Amino acid sequence: MCKATLSIVVLISGSGSNLQALIDDLSKQPIKAEIKAVISNKADAFGLQRAENAGIPGIFIDHNEFPDRTSFDQAMISKIDAYNPDLVVLAGFMRILSNDFVNHYSGRLINIHPSLLPHFKGLNTHQRALDAKHKRHGASVHFVSNELDGGPVIAQIEVTVKANDNAESLRLKVIKQEHIIYPQVVRWFAEHRLSLQDQVIYFDQQLMQQPVVLKPETA
Ligand code: GAR
Repeated sequence: MCKATLSIVVLISGSGSNLQALIDDLSKQPIKAEIKAVISNKADAFGLQRAENAGIPGIFIDHNEFPDRTSFDQAMISKIDAYNPDLVVLAGFMRILSNDFVNHYSGRLINIHPSLLPHFKGLNTHQRALDAKHKRHGASVHFVSNELDGGPVIAQIEVTVKANDNAESLRLKVIKQEHIIYPQVVRWFAEHRLSLQDQVIYFDQQLMQQPVVLKPETA
């Protein structure tokens, strides 16, 4: 049975601008979703301040205090599950997750990545898009699988790469679009429109053949 309000836990490692976009969107939209907690593996992540400003519990878990990835991930699972989340949102969480963690949240774990997947998994996506002379770049939101930046892609949003773009100008263009695409995907979850079965996405009960491509905001 569907719970009335979608409970969300957001994981961050840094600035948390995507977290802020989610907080702002949820405060404006008449949708039933609530960010119950924000968890960071970095003590100085500005996203923890953003959580506090919004009255959301912010939790720091130091990965350096754990002997290995498995024990850190188990500690994270304990913290996260205390909030009984329907959805775990990775918003710039820059740690590789163990298979146990990914499997534990299968179908309710999503990530945003600053590229048009499957292009440019990993780091430095903007410079790599420039080096590869791609004319289109962007961001993807995907269900998380055991492959780094892998898993079925739910939605993508594109930007045009201009001749005078550099990695920073491209990053700014892409992150502006991230702030549109991530809240949209979370809204779909809150409306119970998205699900994952056997690594296949269903959207409005229909098998999703390819990611939804959202129009970029150009203002
Ligand atoms: C975002 O660009 C996000 O796509 C990226 O980290 C940034 C976090 O920014 N995530 C990844 O690269 C994951 N592979 P934010 O902290 O301001 O939301």
